[in-house]
Amino acid sequence: MYNHHMAENALLLRLKEACQLTDACWAAYTFREGDAWRLGDTYHLSRAAQSMLLEFLNEPASATWLGGALTGGRVRSRSLSEKLPLTCGRVYAFPAGVMTLVVVGCKTELDARAQRIWKLATLSDPFPPPSPGEVSLLQQTVIELQNTQQELQARISAQREAEARLIQAAKLAAVGEMAAGVAHELNNPLTTVVGFTELALEELPLDSPLRRDLELVLKESRRARSVVRRLLDFARQGETSRVKADINEIVEDVILLTKHLMQTNNVQPVIRLGENLPWASMDRNQIKQVVINLVNNALYAMPEGGCLEVETACQPRYNRHWITFSVRDTGVGIPPENLQRIFEPFFTTRSDRGGTGLGLSVTYGIVTDHGGMIEVESQVGAGSTFTVWLPLEETA
Ligand SMILES: Nc1ncnc2c1ncn2[C@@H]1O[C@H](COP(=O)(O)OP(=O)(O)OP(=O)(O)O)[C@@H](O)[C@H]1O
Ligand SMILES: [Mg+2]
Repeated sequence: MYNHHMAENALLLRLKEACQLTDACWAAYTFREGDAWRLGDTYHLSRAAQSMLLEFLNEPASATWLGGALTGGRVRSRSLSEKLPLTCGRVYAFPAGVMTLVVVGCKTELDARAQRIWKLATLSDPFPPPSPGEVSLLQQTVIELQNTQQELQARISAQREAEARLIQAAKLAAVGEMAAGVAHELNNPLTTVVGFTELALEELPLDSPLRRDLELVLKESRRARSVVRRLLDFARQGETSRVKADINEIVEDVILLTKHLMQTNNVQPVIRLGENLPWASMDRNQIKQVVINLVNNALYAMPEGGCLEVETACQPRYNRHWITFSVRDTGVGIPPENLQRIFEPFFTTRSDRGGTGLGLSVTYGIVTDHGGMIEVESQVGAGSTFTVWLPLEETA
């Protein structure tokens, strides 16, 4: 059936134009609904004339020629019976769709040209109902559009995340730059303070009452200097030298250094060194610094003692090989809201116990400088694992 709502204006305009071009009196769309003919748009037909026409169309005598026009797909005409006061003498029926005809009333017969005009006006349906194939194509297109939209949404949020990461990185860089500037300015005066305090202490009689004060000055200025050094490390201002080195050797060094601390803290070390690990290119001092930072954090996380596990290995990921080392503790763990922030410079939960919040940001800087990655897994109350991945140069 015709979609009368969509096509209304266009259809009416066609009827009007065709009537004017062919000198016809009136025209009407009629369509089959159930077993009766109904009228669609009409041109130049009064209400009374419309109902008269309907009556005429539904007469049994009209069935043959209307049905013939519909099924034969060809124009049929008939003279009007006299009892119909429709102004015209002849009625034409032009097929206009699967179940639709255009009936046209005219005074005389339509010549060939006029018939052609009506054929053109009626046969080229401006809004043919879509075929089942077209419907499924449309549905498919809709699904594709929806998929595209979803994909677009996903990309937009990925983009937003990337932007947030960039902003975070820029913030870190800005803080690092500022810290480096400050640290640089402080380094020399602090070295002077430490040096001269040491000299003064050497000169001071052992029983001098000033001794305790000066020793405090020395202790605190050394502490300040070490903070400054770490700031400089963080800004990676120190010169680096990369050599092929054995990660196991570095780990063993650090464990040896901290063995005493572990014993007094009631911490049980478990060391698992991978065998025959290839050597990765690294700055030994920096990587040692990384291991020390991670081990120190692990020790601080276990004030009641516990187990500290260090493991080294060679593992594949992203189609290449990596040297990995992990430091696992059975300590307090890191709450999820802190997990995002622990690599930020100056983020610390130990400020009251001398934490500066630089350990992990220095660590992060060193590891990424080596083209590596650092990962953390943690559960509050159960402990944390920090894993560092250092890339190995692939040999063909
Ligand atoms: N193994 C761990 N277990 C629990 N929390 C940790 C662990 N490692 C780091 N953290 C948390 O991350 C914070 C930041 O660590 P980071 O090493 O950067 O600084 P810090 O240890 O507080 O101070 P600094 O290392 O400069 O002395 C810590 O204060 C702590 O809250
Ligand atoms: Mg630390």
